[in-house]
Amino acid sequence: MRLHVVSFGCQMSVADGGEMAAPLLARGFRAVARPEDADAIVLNTCTVRQHAEDKALSLIGRLRPWKDADPDRVLIVAGCAAERLGGWIRTRFPHVDLVVGAKSIEDYPRVVEEALAARFDALSETRAAFGAEAAPESPIGWTSSVVAPVTIMRGCNYSCSYCIVPAVRGRETYRPYETVMSEIRAKAALGAREILLLGQTVNSWHARGTDGRERRFPELLRAAAAVDGVARVRFESPHPFFVDDALIAALAEEPRTGDVVHMPVQSGSDRVLALMRRNYTADSFLGKIKRLQTAAPRIEVTTDIIVGFPSETDDDFRRTLELVERLRPASAYTFKYSPRAGTESAGLPDDVPEAGTEERLSRLNALCDGLTEAAMRARVGRDVEVLDENGGYGRARDGFRVKWGTPAEPGRLRTVRITGTMKRTLLGECQ
Ligand code: 5AD
Ligand code: SF4
Repeated sequence: MRLHVVSFGCQMSVADGGEMAAPLLARGFRAVARPEDADAIVLNTCTVRQHAEDKALSLIGRLRPWKDADPDRVLIVAGCAAERLGGWIRTRFPHVDLVVGAKSIEDYPRVVEEALAARFDALSETRAAFGAEAAPESPIGWTSSVVAPVTIMRGCNYSCSYCIVPAVRGRETYRPYETVMSEIRAKAALGAREILLLGQTVNSWHARGTDGRERRFPELLRAAAAVDGVARVRFESPHPFFVDDALIAALAEEPRTGDVVHMPVQSGSDRVLALMRRNYTADSFLGKIKRLQTAAPRIEVTTDIIVGFPSETDDDFRRTLELVERLRPASAYTFKYSPRAGTESAGLPDDVPEAGTEERLSRLNALCDGLTEAAMRARVGRDVEVLDENGGYGRARDGFRVKWGTPAEPGRLRTVRITGTMKRTLLGECQ
């Protein structure tokens, strides 16, 4: 029995794909890299923007011939769009066997068992023999064979006015300290050298250990970095509210936390930030980053920005450009505002004309690309520490992609002298 998992959306969603695969792999499924080789497909959807949702829905449609060719095949649609549109997906796409939303990920093994046990038995009888299809190179949900995600919290207690996540993922829940630590140790034992701690507001994590003592995120970060075999611990995505002295100290004192922090800012206009209900101003956000970079000057920042939020004026947008110039992110993910039904801002008139949003997006991208290119050029001639993720290719401590060729050995930390750049990749020679 052969399983293919495809996940849209954030790293959390990719990691969920891995967790959903686990009970199927335990039942004897083997992971395959191509959907056409699979007996079962888990399609893990995203709904953060309309475009992300559309991509997943279109793939569900395109999988119809695969399912029709053999009705014993199993198509499972999971994740955030499944949570939002569950009933509609069932009606619109009758070839889907099971729809399971993002809130039910913890129940996933039981739901799958109940819904599909008989089908799995039928599949295992007809498909006892494995073919020679290519298996994925890395465990499902891992970024590479040496970079493993560990989900530490789910859900979000904030109510950013544009964001569908609280609706589809619910309130925050935190995984227990010991559970997280044993998962990190287990993944390190499987070869993970970099651990990616994940949560919608990852640094709001806190939990009481079995000893009754309350632990907060900075302590978990330090403990994760100290696990045998772990060379780096990163985390995504932190909320500025929980960037406190303890977290700044952990980042400053623990070099294994790497040299990059991703922190979404969304806009540089205080008026828009207030409408977004972000609970900070451009200055207070920059102040936090300044404190962090004063304590730990090695740390670069990357961010997310939305353009074309309802009522955004040229002046608001100019403030976003100004903020980017002051923040100087090593890279930025930029998005056109996408109204999501049921969110607060979906009730505001979506009044920024499409052409205006497009123009703002391309100006913002030009600025951000320029900053990324300048940061990359500044690295030429420097020696950087790189974790080999894929035989001669990996990431530097600050998150930049680096290619050097040989010697190649996934999992090794290498010192690479940067000699040039190619698109978004630094080129170098191993020292
Ligand atoms: N429209 C556009 N971008 C959005 N994001 C979240 N919701 C929306 C939306 N409705 C972006 C934010 C967030 C990233 C994951 O997606 O920038 O940080
Ligand atoms: Fe998409 Fe948000 Fe769900 Fe991640 S949490 S898959 S970005 S909707």
